[in-house]
Amino acid sequence: MAGNSFGKLFKLTTFGESHGAAIGGVIDGCPAGIELDFEAIQNELNRRKPGQSKIVTQRKEPDTVEFYSGIFEGVTTGTPIGFVIHNTNQKSKDYSHIKDVYRPSHADYTYDKKYGVRDYRGGGRSSARETASRVVAGAIAKQFISTIDINAFTSSVGDIFIDKPYQDLDFDLIESNAIRCPDEATAAKMISKIEAIKKQGDTIGGTITCVIKNVPVGLGEPVFDKLHAELGKAMLSINAVKGFEYGSGFCGAKMTGSDHNDLFNSDGTTQTNLSGGIQGGISNGMDIYFRVAFKPVATVIQKQEALNSQGELVEMQGKGRHDPCVVPRAVPIVEAMAAMVIADQILLRRQESRDW
Ligand SMILES: Cc1cc2nc3c(=O)[nH]c(=O)nc-3n(C[C@H](O)[C@H](O)[C@H](O)COP(=O)(O)O)c2cc1C
Repeated sequence: MAGNSFGKLFKLTTFGESHGAAIGGVIDGCPAGIELDFEAIQNELNRRKPGQSKIVTQRKEPDTVEFYSGIFEGVTTGTPIGFVIHNTNQKSKDYSHIKDVYRPSHADYTYDKKYGVRDYRGGGRSSARETASRVVAGAIAKQFISTIDINAFTSSVGDIFIDKPYQDLDFDLIESNAIRCPDEATAAKMISKIEAIKKQGDTIGGTITCVIKNVPVGLGEPVFDKLHAELGKAMLSINAVKGFEYGSGFCGAKMTGSDHNDLFNSDGTTQTNLSGGIQGGISNGMDIYFRVAFKPVATVIQKQEALNSQGELVEMQGKGRHDPCVVPRAVPIVEAMAAMVIADQILLRRQESRDW
């Protein structure tokens, strides 16, 4: 299975399956001399971990990260940073019903057809458990790019959404509720919606908005490696992501150029920022903001018709511990992927110019 590495210079390779002994990764290319705040790394993992509230999966994992290399006396040495997170709360018998049956809209069918062998326990490698390793790397990337602020938050669940521009939100409130929505009234509605959906054994989708502030001008390459293309790939690599839009996104397609243009101020900033901080694939110094759409989780705790490996349609009852909605746990994953992209771009820029 190829494609387990992400990034050009700040490069993460992950390994592990949901019900194997452990998951983990190797971060290659992290610069030397970063004094790591281990509590901040663990805190990011705690934001992603299962069992943290009533509206997420009830699998109980401490998700404690152990570092094995690349760090001496708390400081990165520039050598590969190897780390492991042990799996401690697997309940593999909950998954015996999908050994020979493919859950609709999950990765069971495609993994089987592509590889001919599949660790079906907890979804194996296709499980979002893998994203804990991304969160570790993202937390280290955040510490490397500490002058740049990255904040993601839940902006919609089903048809409930925040009806305000991000500039009117207080990001300090993101962690004040279980759904990670900085608008408290909307957060309460979102939580009630997920609780109701969960009671029916069903699941629901949602969106996450991410805002990156204090980005220097000049990140991103103008042709194939445009900054928004790198961010798009990063976000679309997260499990269950179905859409990515930045700046005005799909709304921009309904506008006229005269309304859409971001007029300059004399200092190079712009009066509006429908470009989302990126023009011609290069950061322009304004806030980068984008939205990521997550589908409803495929495993519904209801009876569904499913295909089995013998090519028969059979009735399948969904089982196991699952997220009724992924967005509250995906917020730190979105931030982690954004941090890795920006860290990578800064290292690439340093290669080009001594001023960086
Ligand atoms: C944070 C997070 C938690 C998830 N939890 C579950 C889950 O409990 N059950 C499930 O079936 N899918 C879950 N998913 C989604 C699956 O990992 C994903 O749908 C699956 O790998 C198939 O990939 P695709 O949806 O991107 O095509 C989760 C995704 C994320 C990001």
